[in-house]
Amino acid sequence: MKKLFSVGETLTESVQAHYTELAERGEAAAIAGAAVASTECCSTKEVYSSEELAALTSGVTAASAGCGNPVALADLKKGEVVLDLGSGGGIDCFLAARFVGPTGRVIGVDMTLAMVGLARKNAERMDAQNVIFKMGRIEAIPERDATVDMVMSNCVINLSERKDLVFAEVFRVLKPGGRMVISDMVVDRELPPEVRADRKQWWACVGGAEVKADYLGRIRDAGLERMEVLEDVRSMIAPEGDWRSSVRSITVRAFRPV
Ligand SMILES: C[S@@+](CC[C@H](N)C(=O)[O-])C[C@H]1O[C@@H](n2cnc3c(N)ncnc32)[C@H](O)[C@@H]1O
Repeated sequence: MKKLFSVGETLTESVQAHYTELAERGEAAAIAGAAVASTECCSTKEVYSSEELAALTSGVTAASAGCGNPVALADLKKGEVVLDLGSGGGIDCFLAARFVGPTGRVIGVDMTLAMVGLARKNAERMDAQNVIFKMGRIEAIPERDATVDMVMSNCVINLSERKDLVFAEVFRVLKPGGRMVISDMVVDRELPPEVRADRKQWWACVGGAEVKADYLGRIRDAGLERMEVLEDVRSMIAPEGDWRSSVRSITVRAFRPV
């Protein structure tokens, strides 16, 4: 049986190993051509409408691993430049591409080579001309200052050990007046140390989830303003007092000041 991580492997390497496997499942689904739902944390059927899912190929939906639908709340306009942090198989990029149209552009950034490879193949299969995918870290975004109208991300920032750098980078790449709409996992209260130390919980987007107030505080500290929590739902059904009961999926919007 394939080992999921080895002794001495960094957290980043083990996250990449997990998402490499998911990308391989996405490519297998694309080749099989069957409608396959992702097996990741949140069901695509809970997150996306049937109309949205119908517009996507199986290689896209099978690799979906989000916990919200930022595009649905982003009020995208024709011609806008959109950046997706941790774009995975590209699901939100392809949905955004329909709104920004041929005069707009969508850029997906991901640190896992197999995911970027899958997303590029998905772009060919979807004939998405206005979407590109780049290898990169969300802590050092490979985009120039003040060039993006809308930064989105779906269930990724929780996986970063340097969330402060991620939000500083979001501020840097946004145009003045530009907005960020991100879905992510947070918790109401600190997770038990053994959950935080469990790599499987990190891959599942829970181990790295921060207390909601601290997470929102980082967004403010980065200089983003007019912050609003657009959605806030409990992610796991568990009795009160169980740590699982404090896990939430939120979607937040904030703006770079003009
Ligand atoms: C939970 S999946 C979400 C993928 C996609 N947003 C979606 O909704 O399907 C997390 C993705 O983020 C990428 N990722 C995790 N940490 C990252 C980092 N620090 N920099 C860039 N990409 C990262 C992973 O490779 C993986 O593709």
